[in-house]
Amino acid sequence: MKIVLEHLTKRFPNRNKKVREDVIAVNDFSFEIPDGQLIGLLGPSGCGKSTTLNLICGLETPSSGKIYFGQDDVTNLPPENRGVGFVFQNYALYPHLTVLENILFPLQNLKGQNRPSKEDMLRRATEAAKLVRIDSLLERRPSELSGGQQQRVAIARALVKMPRVLLLDEPLSNLDARLRLQTREEIRRIQRETKITTVFVTHDQEEAMSISDLIVVMKDGVVQQIGKPQDVYDDPVNLFVSKFLGTPPINVFAGRVRGGQLLLGDDAVLPAPGIPDQEVWAGIRPEGFVPDANGALQCDLIQVEVMGRDTSVVCRHGACEQAIRAIVASEARPNAGETKVRFALKPNKVHLFAKATEARLSA
Ligand SMILES: Nc1ncnc2c1ncn2[C@@H]1O[C@H](COP(=O)(O)OP(=O)(O)OP(=O)(O)O)[C@@H](O)[C@H]1O
Ligand SMILES: [Mg+2]
Repeated sequence: MKIVLEHLTKRFPNRNKKVREDVIAVNDFSFEIPDGQLIGLLGPSGCGKSTTLNLICGLETPSSGKIYFGQDDVTNLPPENRGVGFVFQNYALYPHLTVLENILFPLQNLKGQNRPSKEDMLRRATEAAKLVRIDSLLERRPSELSGGQQQRVAIARALVKMPRVLLLDEPLSNLDARLRLQTREEIRRIQRETKITTVFVTHDQEEAMSISDLIVVMKDGVVQQIGKPQDVYDDPVNLFVSKFLGTPPINVFAGRVRGGQLLLGDDAVLPAPGIPDQEVWAGIRPEGFVPDANGALQCDLIQVEVMGRDTSVVCRHGACEQAIRAIVASEARPNAGETKVRFALKPNKVHLFAKATEARLSA
């Protein structure tokens, strides 16, 4: 089922008497989510992710704009008629019900001819439990499960109605790092097996990049960029997106372009062909630095951290406010005793942004 969002906007009244304007939680969001794909919706806290999901499932009605599931206009359809499975940000299981009863609950709530037979309900609940690998825990109560198992019960409960669309709002938020990794792979597997169009909300960029077919990066209710994770990483449209993706984060220098050259401080570090003279932000990915005795960029070496396969070189440069973090191959690392280090730069790992608008500059 493809989902089409057409100029979707959601305003909330502002309760702050000093501020007259409404809160615009989602601002003119247009996007066609292809059938059967997993979309990662990504952005800082308060950027409108949950509101977008609530609009898709019908818990909120848009102030303007339309939502289609396939050809059907569902903008004014109540949530129970949309065929959506939802795992909420604060998913809550019913503590007095067993795992099986929790999963059965949405089916038992169905009315009239939609209500399956008892045997059918049991079969579907068991299938959903199998899919998330909790079928051996059906008789337990939520308090007798680990956090990860509870979260999987919540996912089974969302799957049991065989939804046309699955919405997951930070479904891994309560898990430790290891379990998070496992469960996100699990979600990916289930999504591939069921081919349900899925929107997955997270503020963890690594999580979004690792499991999504497409990611949507939002800021202040406005979509910044939509694309395949690697494409968005390689070709960010603005400074915000470039800073939001990648660990360690991109290193941002205040620089300028003069005569087709990028200058950081007084050093011309890279050709910038076709870009008019101006002040710029130069974002350099950690993997864009190559230690080179003749390199154009000279930095003060602070420390060298060896982390298994890679080495992280921490250094400073007058044009960069923060400490710079470069990831280099172990054999190329500078000696810890040195005070200076020189780098050549990989051109495709350096992005230039206009100083004022922060939009990407390209030749
Ligand atoms: N019912 C409401 N009334 C007024 N403002 C609201 C309401 N719901 C959300 N907002 C505001 O809308 C904006 C977007 O909220 P939303 O919950 O969608 O953010 P989010 O991206 O999910 O954030 P988080 O990562 O913290 O969950 C926020 O500024 C929030 O304060
Ligand atoms: Mg939220």
